[in-house]
Amino acid sequence: MTEHIQFSDAKDALVLLDQRYLPQREDWFDCTNTEQTIYALQTMVVRGAPAIGVTAAYGCYLAARETKGEGDWQAALNDLLDKLADARPTAVNLAWAVKLMRGLWQDNSSWSYDELCANWLEKAKELHTEDIECCEAIGRHGHVVIQEGDTVMTHCNAGALATAGYGTALGVIRGAVDHGKKIQVIANETRPFLQGARLTAYELHKDGIPVTVACDNACALLMKKGMVDKVVVGADRITANGDAVNKIGTYGVALLAKEHGVPFYVAAPLSTIDRDTPTGDDVPIEDRTPLEVTHVGDTQITPDGVPVYNFAFDPTPNRLIAGIVTEVGILTAPYEESIRKAFLEK
Ligand code: MRU
Repeated sequence: MTEHIQFSDAKDALVLLDQRYLPQREDWFDCTNTEQTIYALQTMVVRGAPAIGVTAAYGCYLAARETKGEGDWQAALNDLLDKLADARPTAVNLAWAVKLMRGLWQDNSSWSYDELCANWLEKAKELHTEDIECCEAIGRHGHVVIQEGDTVMTHCNAGALATAGYGTALGVIRGAVDHGKKIQVIANETRPFLQGARLTAYELHKDGIPVTVACDNACALLMKKGMVDKVVVGADRITANGDAVNKIGTYGVALLAKEHGVPFYVAAPLSTIDRDTPTGDDVPIEDRTPLEVTHVGDTQITPDGVPVYNFAFDPTPNRLIAGIVTEVGILTAPYEESIRKAFLEK
């Protein structure tokens, strides 16, 4: 896969592969200020929790540059960081990245404007590299949950495009393939933004990993027919008790997996675990524009004046999760305990 998040020193810009147009075209979107970064996050030029985190880290640097170090630039910068952190509410990696960058600034409050910019850019590049390493470690730990010949279902896109590279759920799948296992993937299409049909299918097909796209509402039949051996999904936020908030529809897939005896795994870096939020029901769920549901492309498919629901995520309770694959190993129930230990061992 092409690196879809790039920092161009020449342009002093964050350059993103525009995921809105995949797989039809590979367009690039430049961010040079906070407004553009927030726009890219909200319209899903870039999406997926870890990718959002890396983008936000570069976004902090771009915010600093925007102030030009003039006047009360520290106050102006704090305002921009608040706006950036609020761009999307569910994926904790966004707030995590802004908090981490802010913490670095607070710990070095004597830095000049130039020093802050230089150190933040270096830190953003470091987080970018670390995220790829985390995903590769998730693949190394997680491949054991997949056996030779398995058909693995995934929901949404938790792949290279949703991270800095390699992926979380798709990292587990790539890990299995790297270990020589011959497997098949079912990508649920993931209405309404179609991350599965467009993005998961795009990146797996590009890498030569056999993938079949299924309508979201085919999940029950596919499981009933015994066509699914494992489910592996990503997460936008995992709470202190091990509940996993992920793309809308994930909860339904997990319930169906339980009913049909299919092991259901979540793969995510520790940066997606929010130990300050007790349960999945406490996580703010993004409510996106109705246009994503009322329209397919430019064509309106619902009658004028009929309201729609467009909640973007749902919480899957920990009792439905067979294991959480992280960069430090596979966590199992009781999750409060295994999560606590994972952070101690980090
Ligand atoms: O709305 P999106 O596309 O940002 O939602 C993405 C997901 O739900 C992913 O499954 C999740 O962020 C994990 S990405 C490794």
